[in-house]
Amino acid sequence: MTGSSTDFKLLAAQVEALTSERTHWVATLANTSALLAQELGGINWVGFYLRGDYMDASLPADELVLGPFQGKVACTRIAWGKGVCGTAAQRDRTMRVDDVHSFAGHIACDAASASEVVVPLHAEGRVVGVLDIDSPLPARFSKADQAGLELVADIVEEALQNPPTA
Ligand code: SME
Repeated sequence: MTGSSTDFKLLAAQVEALTSERTHWVATLANTSALLAQELGGINWVGFYLRGDYMDASLPADELVLGPFQGKVACTRIAWGKGVCGTAAQRDRTMRVDDVHSFAGHIACDAASASEVVVPLHAEGRVVGVLDIDSPLPARFSKADQAGLELVADIVEEALQNPPTA
């Protein structure tokens, strides 16, 4: 499946519906990862890593810690600036990697992964995590996918910015 087959307008509306509940960011990110796993074809892992101190005050700010996801068991901690995830977080830039094996420092959680896209997430003006998606297909993610996923990330950020409602 190629990126052009994803209806990102519809997906964005679905994510908007999930995030508008404002229960807790764990609930929002858990359901969002389930939705993305359901709606995106040709992927083998989708989920979130959060900056340690955003997740819990006892965790370090220079690490990304595993959050809600769908897929195989993954590494729980990624140092800021390391791997595709840590690089996206440090640079505050989406990383779209057509061939993970040619990315120096790529962290292989699932040996089946061939390509990957990582989108930074912000709250209170700083990067507080990333949306990470892996595919077993080389070059699975197009520029259109990147734009669509950045839109999804913008909506998810609303849930991270706003405190839960009673
Ligand atoms: N490949 C990522 C690590 C996370 S897994 O893909 C779930 C990276 O290089 O940062």
